[in-house]
Amino acid sequence: MKQDLIYFDNAATVWPKPESVYRFMDHFYRTQGVNPGRSGYDLAIEAGSLLTNLRLRLTKFFGGDEDTPERLIFSYNVTDALNLIILGLLSPGDHVITTNLEHNSVIRPVNHMVRDYDCEATYLRFNGAGFIDPDDVRKAIRRNTKVVIINHGSNVIGTVQPLKQIGAVCKEHGILFVVDTAQTAGIIPIHMKEMNVDVVAFTGHKALMGSMGIGGLCIRKQVEVRQVRAGGTGVRSVEPYHLEEYPWRLEFGTPNMVGVASLWAGQDWLDENGVERVHAREMRLASRLVEGLRTINGVRLYCCDNLQNHLSTVLMNIAGVDPGDVGIMLDVDHNIAVRTGLHCAPLVHQQLGLVNSHGGVRFSVGAFNTEAEVEAAIHGVAEIARWARERVAKPAQVVPIATEVAQPLRMRA
Ligand SMILES: Cc1ncc(COP(=O)(O)O)c(C=O)c1O
Repeated sequence: MKQDLIYFDNAATVWPKPESVYRFMDHFYRTQGVNPGRSGYDLAIEAGSLLTNLRLRLTKFFGGDEDTPERLIFSYNVTDALNLIILGLLSPGDHVITTNLEHNSVIRPVNHMVRDYDCEATYLRFNGAGFIDPDDVRKAIRRNTKVVIINHGSNVIGTVQPLKQIGAVCKEHGILFVVDTAQTAGIIPIHMKEMNVDVVAFTGHKALMGSMGIGGLCIRKQVEVRQVRAGGTGVRSVEPYHLEEYPWRLEFGTPNMVGVASLWAGQDWLDENGVERVHAREMRLASRLVEGLRTINGVRLYCCDNLQNHLSTVLMNIAGVDPGDVGIMLDVDHNIAVRTGLHCAPLVHQQLGLVNSHGGVRFSVGAFNTEAEVEAAIHGVAEIARWARERVAKPAQVVPIATEVAQPLRMRA
């Protein structure tokens, strides 16, 4: 690994993780790394109880129905969770309302349902500041609208959507409300009951401070989801078909118990540090980043004039430089890691008119970034912008190409 790498790619995955998370994962796997719920010996029961306790802990964390913690489902990541819910909720002829802010983990399964199962989809535009208007959700509702799926926090422009208002519209019309919390779980508190959210989809490896390879769904009591896979559950093995009861209805095979342990330790870390406090610190750093970038001639920022209802994710470009090149220069010359391109959310870039110019440069500030790192980022961008300006002012000299063509060697007869 490069020494002293400045990591601003926390929207892709939060890194590093708290030491306590690494330690607990290691300890758990060494001392209780057996298959839970498949056998009756003490150790298997102990491992299983971590899983069961985490279901309740996360249900409380998301403000779900505490009397049905079995509806907290574990999957590989939020992409997997969103596939389970989109395929499990929609039937031919159903209409889904979603937005241009979505990640491909919503766009692609929805588009497959449209292409392959005769579903219909409406993609709502965000306004100039990067927000979805709840009134637009209301206007898009049709007779056959089954579900609204919204990305709570944009992984590209960082805006946080008004869940409570959108949830109220859904409730009024009896439509299910699914929220992708990949960017917000562990950063912005969510209360499903108060916000009328029916399903939360989450991923473990971002601000929940867990590992890669775990995510899941928190599903409220009133929601019925078809199971779309089948396999071993560890219980009632004689049944020829997959079990209907939760959590088995949506869980298949051996769970990622090291991931479960990581999420447990992540919850401990969040309890200790406070979700609001972590977010407030990240936003202080992001504000300084935006303030610094704003003063640089040639830098363009997107949807961050006001950092209210915003994550610490900042999208920018430098005039005249391809975003991919900016990323390489930040890495090679300044040891700074960012994410460039379309960020798996092409409709955001399409709406901003950035697809043909290869998207943007995303800085995503995390819990472990420092003020000095933010200053280094501002300095790095300022250097690249200065280089870009000088390049325009003083175009590179054209090296003359030799016009004489070398004569082929004559072979001696
Ligand atoms: C908003 C959003 N949804 C979904 C995902 C996919 O997450 P995962 O790769 O953990 O499934 C991401 C990842 O960046 C994201 O930002």
